[in-house]
Amino acid sequence: MAHVHKFDVVIVGAGGAGLRAALEVPREYSCAVLTKVFASRSHTGTAQGGVCAALANEEEDKPIWHVYDTVKGSDYLGDQDAIEIMCEDAPRAIIELEHMGLPFSRTPTGHIAQRRFGGHTRDFGESPVRRACYSADRTGLVMQHTLFENCIKHNVNFFHEYHLTDLIVRDGKAVGLVAINMMDQELHIFHAKAILIATGGFGRAYRITSNAHAGTGDGMWLAWQAGIPLEDMEFVQFHPTGLWKLGILVSEAARGEGGILRNKDGEAFMERYAPSVKDLAPRDMVSRSIVMEIRAGRGIHAPDGTQYVHLDLTHLGEDVINHKLPEITGFARTYLGVEPLREPIPVTPTCHYAMGGIPTNADAEVIANADGDVIEGLYAAGEAACVSVHGANRLGTNSLLDIIVFGRRGGKAISKYLEKDANFAPI
Ligand code: FUM
Repeated sequence: MAHVHKFDVVIVGAGGAGLRAALEVPREYSCAVLTKVFASRSHTGTAQGGVCAALANEEEDKPIWHVYDTVKGSDYLGDQDAIEIMCEDAPRAIIELEHMGLPFSRTPTGHIAQRRFGGHTRDFGESPVRRACYSADRTGLVMQHTLFENCIKHNVNFFHEYHLTDLIVRDGKAVGLVAINMMDQELHIFHAKAILIATGGFGRAYRITSNAHAGTGDGMWLAWQAGIPLEDMEFVQFHPTGLWKLGILVSEAARGEGGILRNKDGEAFMERYAPSVKDLAPRDMVSRSIVMEIRAGRGIHAPDGTQYVHLDLTHLGEDVINHKLPEITGFARTYLGVEPLREPIPVTPTCHYAMGGIPTNADAEVIANADGDVIEGLYAAGEAACVSVHGANRLGTNSLLDIIVFGRRGGKAISKYLEKDANFAPI
């Protein structure tokens, strides 16, 4: 016999999008978050380099420049209305996180510190700008923990280590979910008035990926099984600097802080491919350039027959490495036995992010067809969703922004829906 639960709202996925949505559900409604892992271990916690907003704390910046970079970075395939919403809302969203207790790194004057990242420019592409707000290279981890702690305070009910097996949609309305408790293999039916899917991406479909083991596209697959067409599934992003062979992320922040990619001759080869922004070109360009270097015979050969290039941080000095990049340099020491203070880090592109997913509008409502009709009671946000702010290529640090902006908007849309007279439809 399956166990049956009833909640006004059920959110699947406890990364940033799911948790930010949960915080928006008023306390008078019951809200459950289901997660395949323990909530604080969700994949958002692996995001490293930052979350962007044109705060202009370090130098002049404007949301409209952020819009321009995001549209251009998306290869002009992003939804420009949604991009505008995200970039305009970014400064508010960051200050809100600060007030929730997120421990950002600080400038000497106490403001939120900001760093350079690929494709972030001032004045419509003129020169690089410091737009990524960060907490050393553990930005996603502190965001994950801050949101989780706030959800506990908000009395959100957590079901840890529950694996979703079915999404129930009846007559164009989402009515419930089936999940398996991984501890005892018992089946659980969750009856809900509103459901939000925030299950992340599917990087684990690739041999080399920066994604956690949980990144298997469960939410997208279940939506598709329920008859919902998926959008932009061909747009899969490769991050240029995965730790050689393992794919573990080596943050773009390393290049934002001045790290340089070098080929087997020690040449800083990005000068050839992107002469103005060099190592801070958008990540699709940098990934492609690495592969072209390797194909041109300028890769570094490993004893096992694979090839890589070097990420050189040796000139950055101990202070930058230890204070701004402690996590990734620790990974290089632990997993490859390389000392980044003295040696370059072996890297290759790694499957990092799915731009496509469950189609939604800017309020995270799931779209059922090309006319934009929505599925009543069904919402999606974060990497599982495709509101299409990233088009064919996401700019670094726009994913943490996406989850807090559209997670919140999804939570707000659900609250409005509940206030209207949403009911428990029969399963
Ligand atoms: O390189 C990074 O720190 C990754 C950031 C991102 O994917 O947004």
